[in-house]
Amino acid sequence: MIYIDPSKQWFHLYCETFSYVLYNADGTLLNLYWGAPLAHTAEEAARCDLSYLLSSFPSGSSFELENRPFEVPAVGTGWFGDPAVRAVNEAGDDLTQLTFESAAIVPGKPALPGLPSVSAENETAETLELTLRDSLTGLQAVLSYTITAGTLERHMVLTNNGTAPLTLTHMASASAPVPFKTGTAGNPSGALSFAGEGLDVIHLRGAWARERRPVRTSVGLSTYKIESQRGASGHEENPFIALAAPTATETSGEVWAMNLVYSGSFAAEAQVKDAPFAYLSIGLNPMTHRWCLAPGESFVTPEAVLVYSAEGLGGMSHLYHKLYRNYLGHSPWRFRERPVLINNWEATYFNLSEEKILAIAGEAKKLGVELMVMDDGWFGNRFDDHRALGDWVENREKLPNGLKGLAEKVNALGMMFGLWFEPEMISPDSDLYRAHPDWCLHVNGRRRTEGRNQLILDVSRKDVQDFMIAMMKRVLSSANIQYVKWDMNRNMTEAFSSVLPAAQKMETQHRYMLGLYRVLQEVTDAFPEVLFESCSGGGGRFDAGMLYYMPQTWTSDDTDAVERLKIQYGTSYVYPASAMGAHISIVPNHQVGRVTPMKTRGEVALGGNFGLELDPAQLSEEDKKEAAALIARAKTVRSLTANGRFDRLISPFVSNYCAWQFSDDDRVLLLFAQVLAQPNYIPQRVYLTGLYPAALYEDEDGRLYSGAALMQAGLPMEFARGDYQSRTILLTKRKD
Ligand code: DGJ
Repeated sequence: MIYIDPSKQWFHLYCETFSYVLYNADGTLLNLYWGAPLAHTAEEAARCDLSYLLSSFPSGSSFELENRPFEVPAVGTGWFGDPAVRAVNEAGDDLTQLTFESAAIVPGKPALPGLPSVSAENETAETLELTLRDSLTGLQAVLSYTITAGTLERHMVLTNNGTAPLTLTHMASASAPVPFKTGTAGNPSGALSFAGEGLDVIHLRGAWARERRPVRTSVGLSTYKIESQRGASGHEENPFIALAAPTATETSGEVWAMNLVYSGSFAAEAQVKDAPFAYLSIGLNPMTHRWCLAPGESFVTPEAVLVYSAEGLGGMSHLYHKLYRNYLGHSPWRFRERPVLINNWEATYFNLSEEKILAIAGEAKKLGVELMVMDDGWFGNRFDDHRALGDWVENREKLPNGLKGLAEKVNALGMMFGLWFEPEMISPDSDLYRAHPDWCLHVNGRRRTEGRNQLILDVSRKDVQDFMIAMMKRVLSSANIQYVKWDMNRNMTEAFSSVLPAAQKMETQHRYMLGLYRVLQEVTDAFPEVLFESCSGGGGRFDAGMLYYMPQTWTSDDTDAVERLKIQYGTSYVYPASAMGAHISIVPNHQVGRVTPMKTRGEVALGGNFGLELDPAQLSEEDKKEAAALIARAKTVRSLTANGRFDRLISPFVSNYCAWQFSDDDRVLLLFAQVLAQPNYIPQRVYLTGLYPAALYEDEDGRLYSGAALMQAGLPMEFARGDYQSRTILLTKRKD
């Protein structure tokens, strides 16, 4: 809900989970509050004038506007930190004085042109648009705010209403102060003039094959920054940042979070000033993005999703999961049960053939698998990773009956057929490169740096986009392909388009993303029934931007069950299980060499979109039986894991155990796992959460437990002997 006070001086966005209050202080837009709800009705909101708080922002010792809680900090007017907006003007200075001009409420939630965004929750949705203007340059900023399912969506449209060009160097999607609450614990150095408790900063740090490990540390007294300059959201950092009360846990305490709906380079930071707040922001990375704004032109920032939780990190995750499950993207697959798939990558690598794929599919079918995915190596002369990206025609030596013939044979087994692509790439050794050596990102006169022996197509170019769209349409129409794995296996270097003029070269990375989003929109629109899964060397582009077009992502190339406990646990901070691909692979594991039991591999994979990444013929009879039972269990629980509430119970980062729980109104699925076996082990207990205390829950052996007992007394975690053991317990709520 949105309240605008009659004098248009303050604006209150409120819902059941938060309030966000902005104030027009003589033309300067301040953020006076972001936190627990202050109002539930328009009457309550009207009574909530926070102007008295202005007294807590007296003039700085030297400058009138120093350390104010600006909603859009700009440059050169008293804010001495990193700005949210910076526009260099024709006179050569970068002063940007954005003054409040008007406020309006528009019905619904307008889509962001060319960019993925959350869709409106219902027909009563409304958007607050605040217009600010720099009178000297004519730069106009329209800030948009919509509340969806307890979260706040924010983006900005910058328009040059002046007569001279402007160069945008900073254009954050969201920026907001988070309170340092007064206490006794923090700020021991006394470096700040107030006694704040301090805040913890939380983000998801990683690398290839070990993505999204939560990092939590005191924000300190300076600027804490995370970023990607890679042209992809990246394995190393996810476009997510949160500040939390140092005492916040999984279930209690305050958390303020920002997540960017974008798949390219980004920056997020928490700036600590000599003020009773830390300044949180997220958006395009100023290091990699610039934009020339000619008179009359507009620039739309990507959307940021802001979450406030008074119920700790678990509460934050519930809000993000619900939002991304229900209001992100347009694929009909979002709400469908996802097929159990088998992928041949770790079974054959490039050495695939029709015969091998059919053998894998035939065995997999017997286990209950529903979708056969053929991975890299099916096209051109792609016998290894040195060649052929761009030559998207099936290799007849490997596939004598073509894609069509193979798909028909897989379909005849009663399975769907899926295919791997890496459409954004080009191998120097390819017919495509020989025909279009200028189609890759490059700078004339400089080396073209290869990664995995490949270059990146200049997707900012319309002719390249058109080629990609036509290619995807051609291949997807040539056979009954019902699933696509869209991969992207390297980061950008020499990230400049040869067709842009010098003044616009720095626009390449964002133009690439806009081009990619155009391609994805056209291709997914043309094939709405195809299930798309995104991938980037595993989870190198696991973000809400990609999830808009493709409802699931390959979470990581690391399929080891112990590693997956951590990867899926960390990913769940922001992204729902319905977004995560999770597969059983062969042992010894190809990434870490570890040998884990089939049961553990499968039970961990139940925590996402279940699949297999192996040749079933290599399995022992005992493992085949176990795999078939796990696949049957995946089908039983997949509606629960896709749509239920997810809770992290025990962290694998701080203990020898891991436990998580899925629950809906009818059922609960509990996973617990132990990494290393211990002698004389006395079962630890796991405490469930969010159940109906008075309800009775029945396990698969008919044993009954009250919800209160499961939550307060807990369940003993008993394990079989040996390392790397797990158990899942499925509980059904009794109707009587
Ligand atoms: C990286 C992916 O993450 C793998 O699953 C596989 O598809 C390879 N690329 C193929 O090149």
